[in-house]
Amino acid sequence: MTQTDKDRVLIFDTTLRDGEQSPGATMSHNEKMEIATLLDEMGVDIIEAGFPIASIGDFEAVSEIAKLAKTATICGLARANIGDIDRCWEAVKHAKSPRIHTFIGTSPLHRAIPNLDMDQMAERIHDTVTHARNLCDNVQWSPMDATRTEHDYLCRVVEIAIKAGATTINIPDTVGYTIPRESAELIEMLRNRVPGADDIIFATHCHNDLGMATANALAAVEAGARQIECTINGLGERAGNTALEEVVMALKIRHDRMPFGTKIDTTKIMNISRRVAQVAGFPVQYNKAIVGKNAFAHESGIHQDGMLKNAETFEIMRPQDVGLSGTSLPLGKHSGRAALRAKLDELGFALADNQLKDVFVRFKELADRKKEVFDEDLMALLRDSGAAEQNERIKVKHLRVVCGTQSPQTADITLEVDGVDHPMTCEGDGPVDATFKAIKAIFPTTARLQLYQVHAVTEGTDAQATVSVRLEEDGKIVTGQSSDTDTVVASAKAYVNAMNRLLVRREKSAPDADVKTVKYTDAG
Ligand code: KIV
Ligand code: ZN
Repeated sequence: MTQTDKDRVLIFDTTLRDGEQSPGATMSHNEKMEIATLLDEMGVDIIEAGFPIASIGDFEAVSEIAKLAKTATICGLARANIGDIDRCWEAVKHAKSPRIHTFIGTSPLHRAIPNLDMDQMAERIHDTVTHARNLCDNVQWSPMDATRTEHDYLCRVVEIAIKAGATTINIPDTVGYTIPRESAELIEMLRNRVPGADDIIFATHCHNDLGMATANALAAVEAGARQIECTINGLGERAGNTALEEVVMALKIRHDRMPFGTKIDTTKIMNISRRVAQVAGFPVQYNKAIVGKNAFAHESGIHQDGMLKNAETFEIMRPQDVGLSGTSLPLGKHSGRAALRAKLDELGFALADNQLKDVFVRFKELADRKKEVFDEDLMALLRDSGAAEQNERIKVKHLRVVCGTQSPQTADITLEVDGVDHPMTCEGDGPVDATFKAIKAIFPTTARLQLYQVHAVTEGTDAQATVSVRLEEDGKIVTGQSSDTDTVVASAKAYVNAMNRLLVRREKSAPDADVKTVKYTDAG
């Protein structure tokens, strides 16, 4: 596509790269494959699958996604050096349509980090983009912190990158600093001043620190950008990135004022949003635009009355447009396998027969304890089944707690670690404290508990509790989640789930190439 295709906006999803960089959002290899498949199926144009130099795990994930993608272009990230770019190419070259994305920080603050003056940096950009282009026809270049880069210098380096062969120029608002009008003016300025600007695609990459990522991305599109970089649920560093579901739905619903289309099948939005929330361990806020639990809920009497008379009174889009069925009849202990399969299909989970068998057993166990099994219960159950399938090294086999008004509370737990049972009994200040102490006594770790959060999946005293546990170890942050009608069992499983993620994270990290260190402290 060239810039003459005026009305098409390419959707570049970076959930698996920028999204996965957000503290606590680590995904396993299989989870990344699943998310990449869903992104490909929903019509994302470009999937940024990872940062191949960052670790062996990242490299393998990008290569495998490159092999499995059916239609999307597969992109990998590389700093402005030959080693990164070569490694990136090794990973993406398997794709039907590969892309190398290379970047360097161009603002005064970022230039100071590799200690390059303006001319040296310009030369570096020329050399690295030329090298990337010699490997791959599709090269994206980003001046990191573009929105705080001097305009004259930005024009100069963008021109160099275009001359060296970049086919997409991405303009990142790395720190979420810009505002909509400025975002538009920046793209306009570049299009007017830079020779060759008409031959490439401008992309916009916005962070949400001031809550303006979606507005800034759309303003850039109105000014001529034709690629939006975004993530599912707005996942990403700090306050996150532009949310894919927001820009796509805004372009669809306000086509009258923004006559640009995307290739996204919007009915797949809800499903992928749920899966990303589950695998990343990042719950979606209730009032989040488009995908929040309350986004289509009408509570007040006036609203409900209006809705019953005409849905358009208070709804600018239909729940079905984003993949919500609108009805949600619960299942119960008499529901059979066919009813379960139909419900899972409706929720967008296509399970293989053997997976369904396992989920059905767990569903029956849950239905025995709980009268009605709601959609939210099923999704929590699927998340926990997914975790079980990941061959986690540590598993909770047995737990019994003694609690009540009389201290001490005790936990008697058996963990299976690498196939061997380890029993332990500990006392604590409450049943959860006793349980966590017992887990730590079996599997000692220096990880610090950063967050312990409980919320009810549905209403009622028999509701399942979903527990989120966030652990931090040497700057690495992971989040574990689990649900159960017993809050202490859910807590134990969530803690163990976080520890399993930490183990994956330890294995993945190459000492010299942690993604966060790479990104902000060493662009060279
Ligand atoms: O925010 C940013 O600047 C980035 C770049 C690597 C494009 O994510
Ligand atoms: Zn970013």
